[in-house]
Amino acid sequence: MAAVSSSLRPKLTLSLSSPTPNPNQLTSLSLLRFPASVSSRCRCLSFDSNNRNSMMRLKASISPAAIVADQTTSSPAIPMVVDVDLGDRSYPIYIGSGLLSQPELLQRHVHGKQVLVVTNTTIAPLYLDKTIWALTDGNPNVKVESVILPDGEQFKNMETLMKIFDKAIESRMDRRCTFVALGGGVIGDMCGYAAASYLRGVNFIQIPTTVMAQVDSSVGGKTGINHRLGKNLIGAFYQPQCVLIDTETLNTLPDRELASGLAEVIKYGLIRDAEFFVWQEKNMHALLARDPIAFAYAIKRSCENKAEVVSLDEKESGLRATLNLGHTFGHAIETGLGYGHWLHGEAVSAGTVMAVDMSYRLGWIEEPLVKRVRTILEQAKLPTEPPETMTVDMFKSVMAVDKKVADGLLRLILLKGPLGNCVFTGDYDRQALDDTLHAFSKS
Ligand SMILES: NC(=O)c1ccc[n+]([C@@H]2O[C@H](COP(=O)([O-])OP(=O)(O)OC[C@H]3O[C@@H](n4cnc5c(N)ncnc54)[C@H](O)[C@@H]3O)[C@@H](O)[C@H]2O)c1
Ligand SMILES: [Zn+2]
Repeated sequence: MAAVSSSLRPKLTLSLSSPTPNPNQLTSLSLLRFPASVSSRCRCLSFDSNNRNSMMRLKASISPAAIVADQTTSSPAIPMVVDVDLGDRSYPIYIGSGLLSQPELLQRHVHGKQVLVVTNTTIAPLYLDKTIWALTDGNPNVKVESVILPDGEQFKNMETLMKIFDKAIESRMDRRCTFVALGGGVIGDMCGYAAASYLRGVNFIQIPTTVMAQVDSSVGGKTGINHRLGKNLIGAFYQPQCVLIDTETLNTLPDRELASGLAEVIKYGLIRDAEFFVWQEKNMHALLARDPIAFAYAIKRSCENKAEVVSLDEKESGLRATLNLGHTFGHAIETGLGYGHWLHGEAVSAGTVMAVDMSYRLGWIEEPLVKRVRTILEQAKLPTEPPETMTVDMFKSVMAVDKKVADGLLRLILLKGPLGNCVFTGDYDRQALDDTLHAFSKS
């Protein structure tokens, strides 16, 4: 867990055990039932109004009522904090509404005097000025440059990566500079990889602006670009200094992108957090309506799940692979269709239904779970079948070169046992895989 420097230690103690939310807040709370946290590692920060640079760290886990109070008071929102525990590379994830309006949160993680914000043509008009303000307000010594990349998965390549290096070199960024990724997973992956390799590694901050990036890609340190022959084939594990999730940025996100990110949220419930899955079944309508309280909770819980898995298996020797439920089938769909037709989460959604179907054929899960998975994905307005153009051969040819093939054997993430349990295994009946592929393909 990240150490707290002495200047940041609380001068006061504060209890969150009995917050006094107003009646409006209680209404929200009663609509959204919050189960207990995955772990007790979620913390809460608040600012001393007399000195905005001093910060109080509260030992108590945040309570559901406190989450509600955070979102509705007029004073600066109190971010929730999830720690990613990686020894001396540990870092905090801040989650809350309006966090880009709290310059001190970002500034405490900027070392040196030079910052390069990496973003794209869609996000720059929306959030670049605000981000530059957050980096420089009350901090005139910092010089901020920005590089605005073309938008799209098709630009997640070496040529675009070079534009980041060009800007950094032209601006004479030194070893103490900080790269800031402002955008979705594409920007996060590219900026992270650029930070990992520029001058053999510089500081890096993630400001994810899609659900996909906020619940998944910004956490855990996987960075990289695509190669013409495959997705994410070139990259590095590289951890950021912090992740700042301002849930207000979701207000401008297109519906389809929002739903795509929900596929990953649902994944956490299925592979390791049954209670969270049940919460999602009750609150999917609130998520689709972009209820900020529901979203903050779903993001926090997703980050907690991912942080736990990453802390236990940073370099993916086993456990971390379980985060790829539905992804082997999903990648085949993404590759088969060509990138840009289906969003990643849409392909993962159909892939999850296929993985669950196969788990059922193997006799590893009960039928009601199969139905629940379909229902929640349909509720989230996600596809539950691959596109009609996908054939069994297309699935097989892409799955044969999956990164999870070891010694010629394709290992899959499959559900096994009650809700919330999965396995990563190559030990399954090949007939079940064949039957699933035929059941979901026309030819
Ligand atoms: N590193 C990891 O662990 C990891 C995990 C999952 C996915 N990924 C990668 O993430 C990428 C997908 O990420 P994504 O789904 O965020 O896609 P994306 O980055 O392409 O963003 C989706 C679209 O939304 C736009 N956008 C982003 N934020 C916006 C906002 N707040 N308002 C309006 N528009 C906004 C983007 O410009 C883009 O057009 C893939 O490349 C995938 O490989 C990486
Ligand atoms: Zn994914």
